[in-house]
Amino acid sequence: MLVRQVINEDLGCASYLVACGGEAAVIDPQYEIEPYLELAALHGLRITRVLETHDHADHVSGHGRLADATGATIHAPAGSGATYPHETVADGDVIAFGNARIHVLATPGHRPEHVAYGIEDLGRGEGIAAIASGDSLLVGDVARPDLAVDPGEGGPALHDSIARLLDLGDHVEVLPGHIGGSLCGSDRMSGRTTSTIGYERRMQPLLSVTDPSTFTDELLEGLKARPPHVDHVVARNRGALHAHVATPVPLSIDDVVGLIRSDGAAIVDLRDEDAQHDAHIPGSASVPMTETGIGTRTSTQVDPRRPVVLLLDDAADAERVAMRLGSVGIDDVRGWIDGGFAAWREAGLPVARTRSMHVSEFAQLVRDGIPDDLVVVDVRDPSEWRQGVLGGSQLTSLASIAAGGFDASELAGRRVALICLSGSRAGQAAALLERAGVTGMLHVAGGGVLDLPGLGVALAEPAAVARA
Ligand SMILES: [Fe+2]
Repeated sequence: MLVRQVINEDLGCASYLVACGGEAAVIDPQYEIEPYLELAALHGLRITRVLETHDHADHVSGHGRLADATGATIHAPAGSGATYPHETVADGDVIAFGNARIHVLATPGHRPEHVAYGIEDLGRGEGIAAIASGDSLLVGDVARPDLAVDPGEGGPALHDSIARLLDLGDHVEVLPGHIGGSLCGSDRMSGRTTSTIGYERRMQPLLSVTDPSTFTDELLEGLKARPPHVDHVVARNRGALHAHVATPVPLSIDDVVGLIRSDGAAIVDLRDEDAQHDAHIPGSASVPMTETGIGTRTSTQVDPRRPVVLLLDDAADAERVAMRLGSVGIDDVRGWIDGGFAAWREAGLPVARTRSMHVSEFAQLVRDGIPDDLVVVDVRDPSEWRQGVLGGSQLTSLASIAAGGFDASELAGRRVALICLSGSRAGQAAALLERAGVTGMLHVAGGGVLDLPGLGVALAEPAAVARA
């Protein structure tokens, strides 16, 4: 038997190619299916099955692209909302090829239809050797129960599902659906990519909590705000199979202006942060290009139904970015601005600036006394406020701003300092609030709230601070 893990570093997703006897199944394929096709070619395999653990909320499945490329049958759990052609799998089903037996285990919680796939390798011996756990048991964590269901239902169901997985035995390998950095768990999730039942039993205190409601309360404590794009992604994953990936092309300034004016196109600015502060296209999304989180950061700032135009330092990155945006359901990537920002500026089109301040300068400003006309807005998640907040700051999460849950009119006529943990979310918040008409923003960069004590600024309990 051959088992290969494929990691999506941008989203923190893990997927698996399981093969035996010349046939392969792919569990929870990512949108970028090329790694599976390469593995299949390399090992002389036919990909005949795609196995979904659930309707994903954080990434667009590659099931449509993979079925189109290979003719594979898609298997989706009973009770999923799948409307595409598929075969249903349910608890107790066994999928057999070569010496592989893949056992379907109902493991609701993250979603009601969720199943895990127990992998038996008869070439070695009987019994489940590894569990592709999807969004149930993760390395260092368990999946969040609040993305698609009421956590009061999802939490206890997840508790019972985890107990079922722990019963598989300590020797069983855990092949999770996500790794650290994914929005489908908490900060407890490890950057390690596999584990065993025994190690997780020993190292995860949450797994020894026997009372389902205590388990749920402890689980919910560390969770980040629900991202705005999950409903769109779930709908995409349930709907018609989709195999097309946008091919971005160079766009002239006239094309770009036309797309903005007549089609409501969004500009996604992937240049580095300093360049964006210095000058940017008003209303553009701020997504400095790094190796991770391009899809999630863009989907926080851009309506996925609108066309997208990229602003890049290097046009050679356009296809990779388009794939990452397709992975979160942003499909209509038209192209990139030919000539980059210089072309925009040379055309005499409007330009905006964002003032930024390093967190150490900001600490100095706080120590000197925050000016009366400056309001500090902390855009970390509620679960992070507990670690301490700056006295007098307004608390609202980036997700809340993105979902329109923050009344920006209160900020009219005042200067606004945006702060988070590292500076990244503050930059995204500045882009969103600029679009909402807020002016005079100051982006606290190069660090955030938890750096302040080391810079001579004491933090307060969140209860002492007015919530915005
Ligand atoms: Fe999920």
